[in-house]
Amino acid sequence: MPENTLSKTHIDIPDNVGFIIKTLEDKGFEAYAVGGCVRDTLIGRMPGDWDITTSALPHEIKSCFRRTVDTGIEHGTVTVMFGSESYEVTTYRIDGEYRDNRHPDSVSFTSSVREDLRRRDFTINAMAYNERTGILDLFGGCEDLKAGIIRCVGDADERFDEDALRILRAVRFAAQLDFRIEEHTANAVKRHAINLQAVSKERILTEITKLICSAHIERIFDIFELGLAPYISEHFDEINISGLKELITAKDTTEGHDRYLSAEERKAVENAFDYEKTTSCELRFARFAMLAEGMEPEHVKKMIKGLKPDNDTLHNTEFLIRLLYVPLSDDRYELKTQMTDVPPKLFYCLLRLKAVSCRTKLYKERCRNEKLENVIALYDDIMKTDEPIYLKELAVNGSDLISCGVKPGPELGEMLKRLLDLVYREPRHNDKSFLKEKALNIL
Ligand code: CTP
Repeated sequence: MPENTLSKTHIDIPDNVGFIIKTLEDKGFEAYAVGGCVRDTLIGRMPGDWDITTSALPHEIKSCFRRTVDTGIEHGTVTVMFGSESYEVTTYRIDGEYRDNRHPDSVSFTSSVREDLRRRDFTINAMAYNERTGILDLFGGCEDLKAGIIRCVGDADERFDEDALRILRAVRFAAQLDFRIEEHTANAVKRHAINLQAVSKERILTEITKLICSAHIERIFDIFELGLAPYISEHFDEINISGLKELITAKDTTEGHDRYLSAEERKAVENAFDYEKTTSCELRFARFAMLAEGMEPEHVKKMIKGLKPDNDTLHNTEFLIRLLYVPLSDDRYELKTQMTDVPPKLFYCLLRLKAVSCRTKLYKERCRNEKLENVIALYDDIMKTDEPIYLKELAVNGSDLISCGVKPGPELGEMLKRLLDLVYREPRHNDKSFLKEKALNIL
């Protein structure tokens, strides 16, 4: 995080959020942007959504805006609509007792923003902001954000007793933000692990998926270290994520242990990634698959499907995993022919994925003759020299060839491929008149 980010007291809020806050203030109420949006803005992340907390009661919120929806009116939440955009505005609340470790038995409203903030899960999520006050940070959220710490607001046992989902949220935020879970909070996580049984499988799945898609997927191992695995694998059983369940339970048995990378190896895996270029979700799924080293591609595919990624991600991940065990050539011409069917971004991912998988047993078996270091050096060189790899980089296109007398259709495609092949062998031949002449000679 940039050093100076947290010293600023002004943060940029979307116009609609500013409008909601101002409208409520003009009517004599207090209002703040609160929670994740303040946290994310302070560390330069794009907030998922903007929530507003206010001293106004639900019916008062409704009377201030033209279009509202009663989202969770009994819990104080009214959704304010602007066109297709919506913002949740919630009355300051104090939760009653949580007998089911998930939902408060009752909710009461309060006029104190402090009371509202102190019921929130982590200090970094318990900050509020409006232009008048600047950042309202009553529990050391800024300091923890700066130090990279996940710490419960007040008594950690109470916070996890109130809502067991927070146990997984702690691990998920640690992975997303690369933060450390503070000791008291970590100990309370361990003590309350069993309460995860009260959390619905959908919510567990959402948290796990966010963790897997985070920049620090290796934090999934916190789930074992904090003793959460037994309670989560039960849910995985129900939702049939067999691969994930296997990954989690196998870690607990000595027998399965060998299949995993050691801590050192995991570090090496992480270091091998250039995060600038590899923020794509598909790669993260593939990385996740690699943590379960030795898994058959079929098995990995099933597991990834269970995590319900969007179609593109699923497709790309499957593609990567399918290619992973196909040996690449360190011959310049051969490598270019292998690259041609893989989109550039995915080919880069493939190399990185291979780089982190090449020490696994399965990989060694299947790609015995591949000399990955040579392949990577060759790839870098091909990229540097900017040699044509894809049809679209060829100096002639379909219309050029049609004007030379090539018939549209399969013949045209075939001709383009032959010319590309020629250019693979001699990149300097990627010249329009040369290739047109070649085409005429072939015809
Ligand atoms: N919150 C909480 N306990 C929970 C869930 C939420 O205290 N179990 C509070 C936190 O203050 C949180 C805010 O409600 O910041 C909004 O919750 P949510 O939108 O679920 O999470 P965010 O913190 O915004 O993060 P993300 O959107 O990444 O889930």
